[in-house]
Amino acid sequence: MAGTARVALGIDIGGSGIKGAPVDLDRGVLLEERFKIDTPKHSTPEALAAVVAEIANNFTDRLPADAPIGITIPGVVQHGVVRTAANIDKKWIDSPGQWLFSETLGRRCLLVNDADAAGVAELRYGAARGHDGLVIVTTLGTGIGIALLHKGVLIPNAELGHLSLDGHDAETRAAASARDREGLSWAQWAARLQRYYSYLESLLWPDLFVVGGGVSRRSEKFLPLLSLRTPIVPAQLQNAAGIIGAAALAAD
Ligand code: BGC
Repeated sequence: MAGTARVALGIDIGGSGIKGAPVDLDRGVLLEERFKIDTPKHSTPEALAAVVAEIANNFTDRLPADAPIGITIPGVVQHGVVRTAANIDKKWIDSPGQWLFSETLGRRCLLVNDADAAGVAELRYGAARGHDGLVIVTTLGTGIGIALLHKGVLIPNAELGHLSLDGHDAETRAAASARDREGLSWAQWAARLQRYYSYLESLLWPDLFVVGGGVSRRSEKFLPLLSLRTPIVPAQLQNAAGIIGAAALAAD
């Protein structure tokens, strides 16, 4: 595999699928096609660990024995312990996820919040590469994920997707899932994004917003409808960002 490249395995746990691939850390690219398995309906720690192990086993024979493994989860991760579970089984709350994955895989793993991983990937290799100011990477999917990056340093677990917006948890109004669930037009959804991003910029005064998540592939449908003082750009790494960021953080 890939000559002398620095390699780590990244695995991204999402609402609909769990995906993994080896990552070339020098270039921030996937070295093989992603291996994907549907997220089990009952997304308990044991169920997700079994799927993650299956994905890892698909690659480990071709990885160096000491290759780092990074795994994302859509919740707060404090020192390896998962603290919140907005869109996964509530059994995750306070479970020692990093230890569980390491035990199941038989290798040391790093567990990180999914948006933090995507943010680090965009900062190191993607749309915010080398940016020195305050960058807010937002992932619009089942929920809203946030990565805060200042002068290249990640401030982890910023759960600003749950800000209160017009009396609602913001992600229930403005995540991509809200557009699907409520059958909103692009313009209707963009109006909610406008409220959300204006609120964020009034609180944090970022230098750049990066918009990720699957829907960012169609950013031309909604980004031009937003009027913000902060530059706002689509993510570049698309659905590989979580994998790449998890791998990069595991190797740090
Ligand atoms: C969770 C975050 C996560 C985001 C994106 C939110 O519901 O609270 O931790 O990053 O969804 O998956």
